[in-house]
Amino acid sequence: MRTLIKNALKSETASDSLTIKGWVRTRRDSKAFSFLEINDGSCMANMQVVADAGIPGYDQVSQMTTGAAVGVTGQLIESPGKGQKWELHASSIQLIGEAPADFPLQKKGHSPEFLRSIAHLRPRTNLYGATFRMRSRLARAIHRFFDERDFTYVHTPIITASDCEGAGEMFRVTTLDPAKAEAQKFENDFFQKSSYLTVSGQLEGETFATALSNIYTFGPTFRAENSNTSRHAAEFWMVEPEIAFADLNDDMDLAEEFVQYLVKDALENNEGDLEIFAKFVDKGLIERLEFVANKPFVRCSYTEAVDILLASEEKFDYPVEWGVNLQSEHERYLTEVHFKSPVTVYNYPKDVKPFYMRLNDDGKTVTAMDLLVPGIGEIIGGAQREERYDQLLANMKAHDLNIDDYNWYLELRKYGSCPHAGFGLGFERMLMFITGMKNIRDVIPFARTPGNCEF
Ligand code: 4AD
Ligand code: MG
Repeated sequence: MRTLIKNALKSETASDSLTIKGWVRTRRDSKAFSFLEINDGSCMANMQVVADAGIPGYDQVSQMTTGAAVGVTGQLIESPGKGQKWELHASSIQLIGEAPADFPLQKKGHSPEFLRSIAHLRPRTNLYGATFRMRSRLARAIHRFFDERDFTYVHTPIITASDCEGAGEMFRVTTLDPAKAEAQKFENDFFQKSSYLTVSGQLEGETFATALSNIYTFGPTFRAENSNTSRHAAEFWMVEPEIAFADLNDDMDLAEEFVQYLVKDALENNEGDLEIFAKFVDKGLIERLEFVANKPFVRCSYTEAVDILLASEEKFDYPVEWGVNLQSEHERYLTEVHFKSPVTVYNYPKDVKPFYMRLNDDGKTVTAMDLLVPGIGEIIGGAQREERYDQLLANMKAHDLNIDDYNWYLELRKYGSCPHAGFGLGFERMLMFITGMKNIRDVIPFARTPGNCEF
């Protein structure tokens, strides 16, 4: 029976016989014994192994180089060295898979750019191992948050005919070969109409919120936006709750509670991984997370935000005036310089937001909200939805939507319509916030960005 290193290191008592399996991080030999550090990815820490010359398997120890897969059976004893409580005194050692000298992850620092080029091996480094363990914990915390609040988890389709955000940034799905003539005809295509990878599960999520009350989706979404930034990916995961009989304030309350819950969970439940990020990526990380977990967020209307930006001394690349969409430099000014806190900005001009948001009584703004955090900017975008049939129809026409494609969505307003609201949290952006990792490409196992679809 194999024991994960994480559990072996948590042992209360010594043990006469224990087996671990993992990959060699380092090895040092002396005449009488070899000293190996083994990592199996279950935690950041290595198991220190002392293997005396002559034990079964020792004849292969010279092949147990950095990166090789090995198994060790032995006695778990108190470690005389500093740093960790236990070490393994081997009674036998086994070479499972060797790693020749060209193994790229020899013990030295590597740039993120180089590690992206070996995305199949980078989870074997301390930093990326920690990142992907945090990713898994974050996903679990998300499900737990909604489960504790009686939300139903809904699976919305990946392939869809509707463009939720209306930004025209969709990947087309087709079975036709563009080089052949029949590609021009819809009736030859699999779905016999234009179909795409979804940019958001929201519209389908609304159909379930207006039936099951409180729901959430959590799945991959796709955007063909050609923006080569550190916070945009073509394939990313989104969490989208949708709540019935709820307005914009309920929506903002939920969003803020959600972000604080996830940050608290990461602080309490990270098995030492946060220390890696604090050490290698961002010294102030833990302090900042503690601040965010405990202090109420700021709320500010779009109009107030524009006034703040206009009054600031900062030189922005994109000039600010009432009616423009906020750019990431504006978002960062608000959260990092002005408020020094996460900020929820609400009531945006209707012309910069999608068709489904509820028109306010001023006729100029809609019930949109974006939650901005220091270091990243927008991590959540949401809204109270337009629940009035006539107004929604007018919005759709103003946005040039093909009404026939959205009849099902309009019918939600015809039969038992009710105020409802929701939002989308960018899963990778939240993970960047929690880990301090600076580039979205470094928190996704295999990042898809313009020009990059390796593996
Ligand atoms: O603000 P967005 O576009 O909102 C929606 O899609 C709504 N339909 C959500 C809803 O109300 N149910 O996207 C939501 C979030 C953003 O705040 C951002 O965190 C993330 O998704 N996001 C991206 N993350 C990585 N790469 C991209 N290209 C992203 N585009 C949006
Ligand atoms: Mg947005």
